[in-house]
Amino acid sequence: MADIFERLIKNYGPIGQYRERAHGYFAFPKLEGEIGSKMKFRGQEMIVWSLNNYLGLANHPEVRKADADASAKYGLALPMGARMMSGNSDLHEQLERELAVFEFKEDAILMNYGYQGIMSAIDALCGRHDVVVYDAECHACIIDGLRMIPGHRFVYKHNDVEDCEKQLIRAQALVDKQASGGILVITEGVFGMAGDQGKLKEIAALKKKVAFRLLVDDAHGFGTLGKTGAGAGEEQGCQDEIDLYFSTFAKSMASIGAFMAGPRTIIDYIRYNIRSQIFAKSLPMPYVVGNLKRLELLRSKPELKAKLWKNALALQNGLKEKGFDIGKTDSVVTPVYMKGGVEEATAMVMDIRENYKIFCSIVVYPVIPKGHIIYRLIPTADHTQEEIDLTLKAFSETKAKLDAGMYQSDMIPDMANK
Ligand SMILES: Cc1ncc(COP(=O)(O)O)c(C=O)c1O
Repeated sequence: MADIFERLIKNYGPIGQYRERAHGYFAFPKLEGEIGSKMKFRGQEMIVWSLNNYLGLANHPEVRKADADASAKYGLALPMGARMMSGNSDLHEQLERELAVFEFKEDAILMNYGYQGIMSAIDALCGRHDVVVYDAECHACIIDGLRMIPGHRFVYKHNDVEDCEKQLIRAQALVDKQASGGILVITEGVFGMAGDQGKLKEIAALKKKVAFRLLVDDAHGFGTLGKTGAGAGEEQGCQDEIDLYFSTFAKSMASIGAFMAGPRTIIDYIRYNIRSQIFAKSLPMPYVVGNLKRLELLRSKPELKAKLWKNALALQNGLKEKGFDIGKTDSVVTPVYMKGGVEEATAMVMDIRENYKIFCSIVVYPVIPKGHIIYRLIPTADHTQEEIDLTLKAFSETKAKLDAGMYQSDMIPDMANK
């Protein structure tokens, strides 16, 4: 008989295998100080491009005051219990009503976290005869939700509307054969790695050919896209075609929690059947009050979204002018595609951090194919033009070193916190 623990420590997994050299530097780094475009990493001040604090709300004085006042007034305990049993409040319901209005939907339900919230919503929505058709690059929380359901799942190639239609036709044939079940399409408003918007309008148009319901995870579009900030559906002029709209508060709201908005009847169904909320303590009051304040600022301060886009376009255009490949982004998420091995990528990250004082996230094999490197830059409303210029200069210089083979090495540098 094999001991489970023994098996696990023989192989720490695709990223865990590097932990002895990487911990605290390439993985699990600690950014310290006030959240903003500059923070401290290992005691040095750096320009930070890794935080989804899109609108700069994390450290907005009104947000900090609302969070502090609510914590002083309510503490973290209130309300006790799950919403259904003893953990409901007027403020939870007010936040749901305000989110529904913001998203042009009838009703909304709060969730404690986005990840478990959407997983559990998928579980609540789908029965054994239903078929889910979903984008191949959906976030892990959607994939995990799909692992929970007994029905069929058909994946379509990323953002490929033709393939989506093909899978819808397969799904239709299956529900016809079963003489039972319906179809749910799941995609994202903005894909968080490449920054490309989901083709929501074109996918929604397929409803004319095959009947289905559309669920959109708009974690990165909420607050950043659309005239009022309502997200990718508003941006593309198809918000009404999205049957269920989901977003986390972890990005433009710089907070914790999530919500799903849609028709009153269906949100009520979810309210009474979503296991992750029924069997878990409700969001503490300071989060609810803090999220109400953040939503108020999303509505009342369009200048934050304008500043975010000004910075994003300055960064993206600057990168393009310098010959960088930033792929197909049509959101503020800014990937920079390069070629090189994992060892080269880590040496380049070290150079950028230690010598240029720039902190950004890097994605390498096995998350993406071997030989590719992606730098993922997240502009925010807090960044300045000077920080953008310094970053563009650092990227040009380090890319030249990469191309000249100056980072070549057969080892990942040992940068772990000892
Ligand atoms: C697309 C997407 N959905 C859901 C989540 C999970 O949200 P949360 O952090 O609230 O669990 C994330 C990451 O935060 C995400 O990027």
